[in-house]
This record gives sequence, structure tokens and C-alpha cells, in this order.
Amino acid sequence: MEVFETIMKRQSVRMYDKKDVPNELIGQLIEAAIHAPSAGNIQPWEFIVVKEKNTKKELSSATLRQRHVEEAPVIIVVCANLEKSADKYGDRGKDLYCIQDTAAAIENMLLVATSLGLCTCWNGAFEENKVKSILNIPERLKPVALITVGFPVSYTTHTKTLRRPFENVTYSEKYGAHFQWIEKGTQEWRFKVRPLEEHVKKIKEKITERKK
Ligand SMILES: Cc1cc2nc3c(=O)[nH]c(=O)nc-3n(C[C@H](O)[C@H](O)[C@H](O)COP(=O)(O)O)c2cc1C
Repeated sequence: MEVFETIMKRQSVRMYDKKDVPNELIGQLIEAAIHAPSAGNIQPWEFIVVKEKNTKKELSSATLRQRHVEEAPVIIVVCANLEKSADKYGDRGKDLYCIQDTAAAIENMLLVATSLGLCTCWNGAFEENKVKSILNIPERLKPVALITVGFPVSYTTHTKTLRRPFENVTYSEKYGAHFQWIEKGTQEWRFKVRPLEEHVKKIKEKITERKK
């Protein structure tokens, strides 16, 4: 899958097939994660792969009982090593870089999962101390996300979530000035809920047109 297509295909999925995700695939997700950029190449990330039923149940209870956390075949708990980042960059390392680095690693993981035919959800709503205690996570590590991973179920389809329009979030040179990239009047399709494949096709067409 091309990168852009993979980005457009990725979406949060909260219903998974019951079958196990082989460690070979999980390994590839984490391999992708550890190749993310990080401030000063500190690589402050650490990962805990959870498959055990009771542990997943406990983790779910730390996420306000989000059911998909318990039901996912695998949870990858992504932690940020605050000390590593703070040692080199002080507060900025601890408060900002560490979080950015692990977020970049997570996105790599989600995209590779999509390209492998897996589905995922990035879960950030959890009680940090509970998660630390359930998994024996040492003090220096901050759990930043629980990534649920599984194979999709065939009996349901997902509608792509909408995005704030490009024009509302992108400026040219200075804040507030319009950044033009496609002709006016051709943008309506981006505001409509359409099947995912149509989104991917349309965006590819636009890019091809622009390259001409
Ligand atoms: C930092 C962060 C925290 C999130 N926390 C949760 C969560 O606790 N539970 C959940 O179901 N989804 C969670 N999500 C997923 C978002 O709801 C989802 O990414 C968003 O609605 C956009 O939909 P999409 O991922 O399908 O494009 C989180 C996403 C991010 C980036």
C-alpha cells in the first residue's frame, strides 16, 4: 500500500475479530515504531505487549471500562521514558519531546498495522497510576497510550471520521492568509461522508492532476 493510501485507510476501529495476532506481526508494528524520529535520537519509547485475558480486563477497568480494550486480542502499551528525555533536554524534554517522540512512534505503528490488514485504536483515556500498577511499570516511565490491535470483523463497516477543512487549518506565510492548493469549487467532496475507497480514489486523482 502506498503511504498516502495507508494514511487515508487508517481509522480507529473498536471491534475486532477474536483471532490472535501473531507475534511476527506485532514485532513489525514495534519495529516500525522504533524507527520514528525522536529529539536528539533519544528514543524514549518502551512497549509492553499484553495478550493475557485477565490483564486486558484489568486494563479495560483503568480506561473507564472501554469495552474494546478488553476485547482486543492485543494491547500494546506505549510508555515514554521521561528521565531519558529530561537528562538531555530538561523540562522541554520531559514535557514535550518525550510525548512527541512517542506519538510519532505510535503513528508509525498504526500505519504499518493498516498496511498489514490489521486494525487499531489509539486509547489515551486511562488512569495512569492504575495502568502502572497493573503492569509493574517503573516510576521513570509514563504510559502514554494503549494501542488496541486486532483483525477486522467482516460483518461491520466503518465510516471515515470527518476532518476540519484544509483551508481552516493551513495558512500561507503568515497566520490567516489563505493557502491555495486546489481550485475553488472542486473541494465539496472533502466535506461529505463517503465510502473510504472513494476518498482514497479522489485524493489520488487530485494529486495526479496536480502533478500534470
Ligand atoms: C491522544 C489520543 C487519545 C485517544 N483516546 C481514545 C480513547 O481513549 N478511546 C477511544 O475509543 N479512542 C481514542 N482515540 C481515538 C480518537 O477518538 C480518533 O482518533 C478520532 O476520533 C479520529 O478518528 P479516526 O482515528 O478514525 O480517524 C484517541 C486518539 C488520540 C490521538
